[in-house]
Amino acid sequence: MNEVSSLTGKNKKRKNVQYVGHFEHIFKCPICDSPMEAYEFKSLICSHNHTFDFAKHGYLNLMNHPIKTKYNKELFEARKKLMVDDKFFEPLSQTIVHAINKEIDVKKENLSILDMGCGEGSHLSTVCNILSSYKDKDVIGVGIDISKEGILVASRSYSHKVWVVADLANTPFKDKQFNVILNILSPSNYGEFNRLLKDDGVIIKVVPQKGYLKELREAFFSEAEKQSYSNEETVERFKESFNLLGRLSLDYKVILNKPSIQSLLRMTPLTWAVKKDKMNSFMEKDVYHITVDLEVLIGTKKMKKLK
Ligand SMILES: C[S@@+](CC[C@H](N)C(=O)[O-])C[C@H]1O[C@@H](n2cnc3c(N)ncnc32)[C@H](O)[C@@H]1O
Ligand SMILES: [Zn+2]
Repeated sequence: MNEVSSLTGKNKKRKNVQYVGHFEHIFKCPICDSPMEAYEFKSLICSHNHTFDFAKHGYLNLMNHPIKTKYNKELFEARKKLMVDDKFFEPLSQTIVHAINKEIDVKKENLSILDMGCGEGSHLSTVCNILSSYKDKDVIGVGIDISKEGILVASRSYSHKVWVVADLANTPFKDKQFNVILNILSPSNYGEFNRLLKDDGVIIKVVPQKGYLKELREAFFSEAEKQSYSNEETVERFKESFNLLGRLSLDYKVILNKPSIQSLLRMTPLTWAVKKDKMNSFMEKDVYHITVDLEVLIGTKKMKKLK
């Protein structure tokens, strides 16, 4: 790296750290739960001196112990390419924005959105961009993921966001900090989601439906392995913790060329166990029509009744 690009990198990190510093009040120490403060563009420190340095591009790693996941840099790069170049999830972003607009008066206050299991950050970035284009208040986007590789790609790609390596079951944030919680194709922890959501906030959870990437399932799995899919159990569990305001079904096809289908094969855990030769013979076509079949659950907090 030459001197100019390394300086640019340092400036970028400083700018991102400065941005995160504006939101120091949302954090609590992952070790002792006390409030935290940003210190000299370098670290986030709690009142008991537990210190977490800002990493590359200004993200924070607030895990107590390192975790290795199967989601690697290649997967997140492929996911980003599909989202940015092929607009793979564009209708989903529009649906999410629509739901947020319907449930929250986005013009009233600065909007804070937490994406739980944000991966490489494109969903959060797109949703924040669309929302901030038609309101004159700030949209604060916070993305967490347990995979450092995902957060690294996110922080390199998207500035003016708070990117944190953390476990969504035990997050380093104070109670009731967020207007919106997004949880897209990722695990959930509804106790933690409830704790973090403002009383009038909204949770948006996205789960796959039976047609999701069915072309890959048909090519790679035998009849017996093709799980029959139902979201009813997921919906029941969601309803135990939140008022279910709506279930939206999204079913569309994306046309992908050969390079993009390679990205698709890399971006999904579905192909982790598939042999190379099966993958290669799948990649013989020039054009593919791939199904995206998703369900969006929209919920609000269940308020405890006053006696
Ligand atoms: C299928 S990916 C979806 C990522 C992103 N939401 C998207 O749609 O592109 C699932 C994500 O959940 C993350 N994840 C799994 N367990 C987690 C946990 N306990 N805390 C935070 N993130 C987690 C993974 O690292 C991965 O990035
Ligand atoms: Zn502490």
